[in-house]
Amino acid sequence: MFDFQPDPAQPKPEMYRELVESARALTHGERDGVANMANLAALLWQFLPTLNWAGFYRVVDGELVLGPFVGKPACIRIPFGQGVCGAAAASGQTQLVPDVHAFPGHIACDAASRSELVVPVLRDGTVIAVIDLDSPEPARFDAEDAAGIEALAGAIADLI
Ligand code: SME
Repeated sequence: MFDFQPDPAQPKPEMYRELVESARALTHGERDGVANMANLAALLWQFLPTLNWAGFYRVVDGELVLGPFVGKPACIRIPFGQGVCGAAAASGQTQLVPDVHAFPGHIACDAASRSELVVPVLRDGTVIAVIDLDSPEPARFDAEDAAGIEALAGAIADLI
């Protein structure tokens, strides 16, 4: 069992440093990508307050396919270019969406979602997955969250 206990009062950059260190510890020596994504989704859920969904979509045969996550059951397949996840996958760029209702083509898997952060995971310059975080709070995510999740994506790209 792993018992990570993030301090909710610490500044975000420190929290994300601890999150990335915890992710490295959690995946150390384990090469099964599904197991690692499952534990990483649980870790994100534990570290980040006010989420209603945290998990992975993987690139499979040119589209995004649902991976391990915490939250309500979600859309299984998302074409590149569609929704926030598809935009991140197609562009290779982080998508920070303060108001999902204002994002053209947003895919509402959970009607409670109000803001979203999607970070592509790149291996050798190719998008292999995205990390998707949803929140019921408007503008839940900021540039520090984006930088922190990008650091996580870089740390785990060879482990999922
Ligand atoms: N809202 C996402 C779809 C995935 S769910 O949020 C889990 C999107 O627009 O791509």
